[in-house]
Amino acid sequence: MRKYFKHPIFKLIAEVVEELQVEAYVIGGFVRDRLLHRESKDIDIVVVGSGIELAERVALRLGHRAKVSVFKNFGTAMVKYKNLELEFVGARKESYRSDSRKPIVENGTLEDDQKRRDFTINALAMGLNQHNYGELVDPFNGVEDLENYIIRTPLDPDTTFSDDPLRMIRAIRFATQLGFTIEPETLESIARNRERIAIVSKERINDELNKILLSPIPSIGFLLFDETGLLEFIFPQLHKLKGVEQVGNRAHKDNFYHTLKVLDNIARNTDNLWLRWAALLHDIAKPATKAYNPQQGWTFHGHEFLGAKMVPNIFKAMKMPLNEKMKYVQKLVLLHLRPIVLSQEIVTDSAVRRLLFDAGDDIDDLMTLCEADITSANDKIVEKHLKNFQMVRQKLKEIEEKDAVRNFQPPVTGEMIMETFGLTPCKAVGDLKTILKDAILDGIIHNSYEEAYALMLEKGKEMGLTPVSEQGVGNRE
Ligand code: CTP
Repeated sequence: MRKYFKHPIFKLIAEVVEELQVEAYVIGGFVRDRLLHRESKDIDIVVVGSGIELAERVALRLGHRAKVSVFKNFGTAMVKYKNLELEFVGARKESYRSDSRKPIVENGTLEDDQKRRDFTINALAMGLNQHNYGELVDPFNGVEDLENYIIRTPLDPDTTFSDDPLRMIRAIRFATQLGFTIEPETLESIARNRERIAIVSKERINDELNKILLSPIPSIGFLLFDETGLLEFIFPQLHKLKGVEQVGNRAHKDNFYHTLKVLDNIARNTDNLWLRWAALLHDIAKPATKAYNPQQGWTFHGHEFLGAKMVPNIFKAMKMPLNEKMKYVQKLVLLHLRPIVLSQEIVTDSAVRRLLFDAGDDIDDLMTLCEADITSANDKIVEKHLKNFQMVRQKLKEIEEKDAVRNFQPPVTGEMIMETFGLTPCKAVGDLKTILKDAILDGIIHNSYEEAYALMLEKGKEMGLTPVSEQGVGNRE
């Protein structure tokens, strides 16, 4: 274990620990991650005594490059030094009331502190005193669980989860992130306590959801949410995707499992969290648009439009940012069928231009989403679709090189139209703008000012408008 303890910062902390004559340990995620050879920059240090005093002394020794922030109310202090974040906290004993997340906190021993932690693998401590420097303190066999890839609570899981129900989601997050298995009693307890998740803030749940989404195989987490019954509480819209309906011998596919496949597919090709969110939400409106008719079978007409509409509501309900990230997810959900349509028909330049125009800089991400959306069990079908998509990508490249419509700004603006015909904002201006945009995208005119201006004059006149330059000409004397 000592070899994991090489960073000079630990030597320095150990010296201060001796000076102050306190007992201190590195604890939690840092110790776990060292044993798993994962990088970790957050170091939690627990002190039997005052965490604040130790932090202040350590910061003093580190000099001007260390920044210390003290949170008196919580009895904690944070020292930022280079790329490290050291959090110092006094060892605590916590007890909770059943109706609240607010614990009654008292000073405690190291063991009290380890007991109140979420999982055996997160309750590992490493000594910082002379007599135990670098030695592991592992009262709950966390190392054994690490070696066996097991997530288990140190106490009766009902107690650990009731102390902080977010831990149910954390268990699933660690299982997904690390590829660990949740020990059966712990898993059963999650199912039993699932309704308690209601007292946890959406923001905390979100942090965990994002970590699940960024994991190598995110479906693991969502399948566990489903298995434990948490899904319904934390993501009702996703829960609604579950199930298969059948009329005669015609059944549609289960959209929950399909979505998870798409998510795993996309996770192999991108680390972009928001693109992964788009994969998760791309079919979210399928239940609401589902219909059956004997000619077509099962249809989900307009699910991309309704899905895009649902995105802001889902983000709002989950207290996620309502910013450009949300708009990006919304846009991808809206456009997710467009490349498929393109790959199925004889691709016209005009259709490709329109897609480039609508997707703009997100065109590559949209193609990545569409490729992930091919989930047939038949390899030949998948191969055929992927080939078609390659053709679409090629065509997109050619048209973009030729016509540069990707970030197309109309060469004639609304202001120019108003100025030319002496108009104030009105429907005619909008109509003319659309005519010009369509003419360029359909290849009727080139994307140039001269051609667009000429067409504006022609179409404006057809609409009964007179350019300012020609107004009143007949009245001149
Ligand atoms: N912890 C806990 N219960 C929680 C959150 C955290 O017992 N609900 C404890 C665990 O011992 C954990 C430590 O606090 O290891 C630090 O928590 P945090 O920084 O949130 O998580 P890490 O375990 O460090 O993991 P990650 O950095 O991946 O979030």
